[in-house]
Amino acid sequence: MNESVGVRADPVADRIVHLTQLEPLAEERLAGPTWDYVAGGAADEHTLEDNVAGWSRIKLAPHTLVDVSHIDTTTTLLGHALAHPILIAPTARHTAYHPDGEAATIRGAKAAEALYVQSSLGGTGLTEVADAARSADQPWWFQLYIQRDRDWTQELVERAVAAGATGLAVTVDTPTLGARDRDKRDNLGAAAGAFYPILDGAPVLPDATPAHRRIYNPHLSPNITWADLEWLVEISPVPVIPKGILRADDAHRAVDLGAAAVMVSNHGARNLDTVPATVDALPGIVSRVSDRVPVIVDGGIRRGTDVAKALCLGATAVMIGRPVIWGLATYGERGVTHVVEMLRTEFEMAMALLGAPRLRNLGPDLLWANQP
Ligand code: FNR
Ligand code: LAC
Repeated sequence: MNESVGVRADPVADRIVHLTQLEPLAEERLAGPTWDYVAGGAADEHTLEDNVAGWSRIKLAPHTLVDVSHIDTTTTLLGHALAHPILIAPTARHTAYHPDGEAATIRGAKAAEALYVQSSLGGTGLTEVADAARSADQPWWFQLYIQRDRDWTQELVERAVAAGATGLAVTVDTPTLGARDRDKRDNLGAAAGAFYPILDGAPVLPDATPAHRRIYNPHLSPNITWADLEWLVEISPVPVIPKGILRADDAHRAVDLGAAAVMVSNHGARNLDTVPATVDALPGIVSRVSDRVPVIVDGGIRRGTDVAKALCLGATAVMIGRPVIWGLATYGERGVTHVVEMLRTEFEMAMALLGAPRLRNLGPDLLWANQP
């Protein structure tokens, strides 16, 4: 049955019907080192592939004969009332993907009712991020890369909160960037010599090591420890959420130190190759800490069924990284909105087909592996 349901008014929605359709279009626009930087994963990219493949390994067990005439995707997350559990992950350098940069992403997020997480390595300064978020009335969290100078870092946290950030996602899985062969082949590609306004002025240690032997990065501090997480919880006026946890014992320790939530992430498989896909790390962390704090997961989320599976596995919300960049590069803010709306629509369809009209209905019994 292929009835026309009326003429579409939106050329983007008319052309793009699922997220990965945008990937080749974005590649055309971002060709070269910038595309390598966005698309690349660490080393042989085993985990890059597994992040996406992992979700389709999970089989679903739909209930039938449930009234799904009203689907409710609303939820709350650390004091935020959300229309749906799809967040925009922090990704660097949006001005490299579209001239309007993070301001376009923020406006796109607003139109898609998605919570936005701003990267420390954004291409836009905090003042402009704050202005864009304020004029769009868009809630946002700040993703922090702790700098080697902790006083400077504390001042950055204070500036981000003063700018309107209502959460602090501290990235804990990136003491250095991984073996990013694509960037190395591009001679550190687009990221080399890039300007990061938010980190402008952060004292950096010179590194005289020849480039091919270098393992550290001037914008990343390799000496952060659990004491730093404890310190951040102490000084931060907003909830602190460690991003990049894969181990249940680390999640437990982070929550004991005051983490308000945990982001299960392998950094889009960009750091350490052959870590598990995040879908495989999620259950252990959920069973360890989800009774105390919300668990957020990212990595390879491309379909509405992936979102449904994440929640069935116990996540409160998911984040998407690369698809947002694909949308931004291809159609600017409209593309960002369309990416989230396509995922949200597929997610609502999956809820209906699972016989799960509310988020609380998305539980382990909807996963085939748990069928008796
Ligand atoms: C990232 N990611 C990232 N994470 C972070 O904490 N700070 C950052 O600045 C960045 N920058 C960044 C740039 C690019 C180009 C990518 C692709 C990713 C990781 C990001 O937040 C997220 O964890 C992953 O992107 C999620 O996986 P998917 O959705 O890209 O598969
Ligand atoms: C990356 C860093 C910037 O993944 O988070 O490129």
